[in-house]
Formats: sequence, C-alpha cells, structure tokens
Amino acid sequence: MAYTSPAMNVMIAAARKAARPLIRDFGELENLQVSQKGPGDFVTHADKRTEQILIDELTKARPGYGFLGEEGGAIEGKDKSHRFIIDPIDGTTNFLHGIPHFAISIALERDGALVAGLVLNPITDELYTAEKGHGVYLNAKRLRVGARKAFAPALFATGLPFLGRPGHARALAETGAVMAASSGIRRFGAAALDLAYVAAGRFDGFWEHNINLWDTAAGIVLVREAGGIVSDFAGRTDGLKGDEIVCANEHLHPQLLKLLKGVKAD
Ligand code: IPD
Ligand code: CA
Ligand code: CA
Repeated sequence: MAYTSPAMNVMIAAARKAARPLIRDFGELENLQVSQKGPGDFVTHADKRTEQILIDELTKARPGYGFLGEEGGAIEGKDKSHRFIIDPIDGTTNFLHGIPHFAISIALERDGALVAGLVLNPITDELYTAEKGHGVYLNAKRLRVGARKAFAPALFATGLPFLGRPGHARALAETGAVMAASSGIRRFGAAALDLAYVAAGRFDGFWEHNINLWDTAAGIVLVREAGGIVSDFAGRTDGLKGDEIVCANEHLHPQLLKLLKGVKAD
C-alpha cells in the first residue's frame, strides 16, 4: 500500500475532483478537432478551470498555503512556509490533439524544499505519488528507477523546443549525441509524465532546458523517491529552480550529464 500523509490525501482528492470534468472535456475534443473554430479556446478554458478547482479544493483543506500555478502565477498565502506548485494540464498540446498523454501535476513545498509530488494521468488513471522519505508509488505499487548501468541499452526522454521557443540548434545537437550512444529517445510531450516514467523505470533518463518549476516540481519528488538523481545542467542537485533538468539513475546520470555538457551548439 502507498504511504499517504494527510497532506497527500488532500492532494489526491483535489486531483481526482479536477480530473472528472477534464475526462469529459477530452471526450468532447474529438468533435472539436474537425470544427471550424478548432479546440483552442475550449482547451484554454479547461486549463483555467482545472487550476481553479485544484486551488479551491486545496485551499478548503489547507487554508493559508500559497500557490504557484501555471495559469494564475504566484498567490501569497498567510502560511509562508507552505506552497502548492501546480500544473493543471501538463501536456496541453497532446490534450489539444486528442492524445491521451497529459497530466495534472501538484507538488508541495515546505520551507523551500519539495516534500510531496503527485502526477495523475486522468485518462489512463495512472496516479503517481511520492513523499520525501517514504518512496514513490504508481497507484498501490512501489516504484524504483531502472537498474541499467550502461548507456547503450538505455532509453531516454527529452523535451524539444518548437516555434517561438529558443534552443533549437542545441536540442538537435543534444539529441544527435544521445541517440548515437543509446537505445533511443522519446518525446512524449508531458514533462511531468516523463519524470514519472523515469521513476517507474520505463525511461532510464530525461533532460530538458527552458522548462518551468510547475512542469518539474512534482516529478522531481517522484524521481528522487525512486532512487534517481535529479540535477540542473551544472550537476547541482540542491536548490533546484526546476527550469532545467537532467535525471537518471546513479550510474547513468553522470554519463548523461557528461555527454550533454560536451555538446557544442551555437
Ligand atoms: C509542456 C510539456 C512539454 C515540455 C514543455 C512544457 P504544458 O508543458 O511539459 O513536454 O516540453 O517544455 O512547457 O505547456 O503542456 O503545460
Ligand atoms: Ca507543463
Ligand atoms: Ca500546463
């Protein structure tokens, strides 16, 4: 059975409540794909509503806690030592295209340290939960990062920039280096789930630049509690800002970091 503190129970209840209308919306999207107007506004609405449900539910149970949310930004709470970090839909582009690979991501920060993380894919009903010092679970099953030590058989995930985002040349150079030395790369389009998949040993490692704390906060707790190493590109594991990330098990992390650092791109 998964270890669940009262705070995690609150996070799970909020995520499940927000997931219900999101599942209905996802069913609607099929019709909207082919409509003239397209699903854009509908998705923006789903994003905002999901964040609001999460904030309302979490506030009811933990009044005073602050928030950092992708949609609403920072909300100061009376309680200065706690804050929830929320991405209501991580993988919005997948959601918009009717691809069932997106997640609600909630992390809890206490005195500046990430202490709990939850990632829920409402469509597959995979719920990942982790609390500092208590391990990580997929539904009721305890997880560990993969055991591979060698780079060649390892499978990696990354996030790639797109129109309007910086770092295209670097991303091409990095993927070139990693794909030539490994079993391959996946770009599934939801960083929170990429991290959850590393925690589950499905991916052996993950890296991404120019990302945000709400994309990574919950996933960082998952990977750490699964025994993985999470760092920035300088190799720092403490005081992460969550805006860039490199993670893998203890054997592959130094190898991945070295390979990425060696990549030259303008
Ligand atoms: C995005 C996803 C994607 C990653 C981007 C994020 P969003 O979040 O996590 O995988 O590559 O950097 O912005 O916009 O779908 O919440
Ligand atoms: Ca995101
Ligand atoms: Ca999002």
